[in-house]
Amino acid sequence: MVEDRKVMRVLSGETVFPPPVWLMRQAGRYLPEYRRTRKEAGSFLELCYSPELATEVTLQPIRRYGFDAAILFSDILVIPDALDRDVRFEEGRGPLMTPIDAAGIAGLDGSRMLSHLAPVMETVSRLRQALPHETTLLGFCGAPWTVATYMIAGHGTPDQAPARLFAYREPEAFDALLDLLSDLSADYLCAQIEAGADAVQIFDSWAGVLGETEFERFCVKPVRKIIGKVRQRHPQARIIAFAKGAGNLLSTYRQKTGADAIGLDWAVPLSFAKNLQEQGPVQGNLDPMRVVAGGRALDEGVDAILAELGNGPLIFNLGHGITPQADPEHVTRLVERVRSA
Ligand code: CP3
Repeated sequence: MVEDRKVMRVLSGETVFPPPVWLMRQAGRYLPEYRRTRKEAGSFLELCYSPELATEVTLQPIRRYGFDAAILFSDILVIPDALDRDVRFEEGRGPLMTPIDAAGIAGLDGSRMLSHLAPVMETVSRLRQALPHETTLLGFCGAPWTVATYMIAGHGTPDQAPARLFAYREPEAFDALLDLLSDLSADYLCAQIEAGADAVQIFDSWAGVLGETEFERFCVKPVRKIIGKVRQRHPQARIIAFAKGAGNLLSTYRQKTGADAIGLDWAVPLSFAKNLQEQGPVQGNLDPMRVVAGGRALDEGVDAILAELGNGPLIFNLGHGITPQADPEHVTRLVERVRSA
């Protein structure tokens, strides 16, 4: 029964204490077993497209820590890869691809996306078979704005200036790109749900570089469109939306997008998080640097979140992905501290 899955109970509005816990990027380079499998796979994308190895790395943090949710091992940039944008991940440089322009946007063809991503759906169904019954399986995609920032710049940037500039200079092409990414993301999330994902998360990691008007047009509107389309096919779908850095704009984000739960980064004050929790479930928001530091910094961060948000619907998580420098023992301590609260 899905009701045995604590994350699913919180997503339907229940308060569960101690709260269920998982960490963004929980499968990753801080784990020696991940680094071994990653080497075996060759390239990062080969790892994403190997159902056998992607299943293995998804399960690694579940075996080690018994998290309440497993997140499909893949990347938000498999969509541009499925659009033939020449996506590469180079050691120490992060993601790279050929920057797109207005003509490139007009020529994008999404018709092969689902066949290109069939191995990901195979991973999802293997995972649902392999996971403990009580573990929630999360699928995910990047939000259109965040995916577009990488497609336009061709690499990561500190402030997404290239995408912001492109949006001002080429508004029609930019809208067309967000629209296409919204449609493809909705189809991709539906396929993950059909393959066995219990719930899905939409990552808008670069929401925080936008002004109010642009946040509304580039973040809220496309995410609302995705959620609407997913719910047309799967009315019961549970959806978490994470708009990193959105600050005060989060006060209406849940209502405007239709998300069940909202993810909070570590800069969201707990007093404000408490108000957001009056509207529904929240997920977050420990500073990943507290996991690197360990000790008192870790304990105090965990305790503050539990004290402020523990008596409402909460999924305990970090405020962004765990970093490669984190000590795996600190994660053990985090999970024990949450579970013994
Ligand atoms: O465990 C999990 O959370 C599942 C897997 C997952 C990855 N990426 C694996 C990954 C998820 C959910 C993502 C999401 C993702 N990818 C986001 C949104 C969340 C966030 O962190 O903001 C973004 C912006 C990306 C794009 C991306 N992928 C970047 C910028 C990088 C390079 C930076 C880095 O950490 O190296 C990646 C590569 C990547 N994706 C790695 C992993 C484990 C590291 C690459 C490697 O192992 O060589």
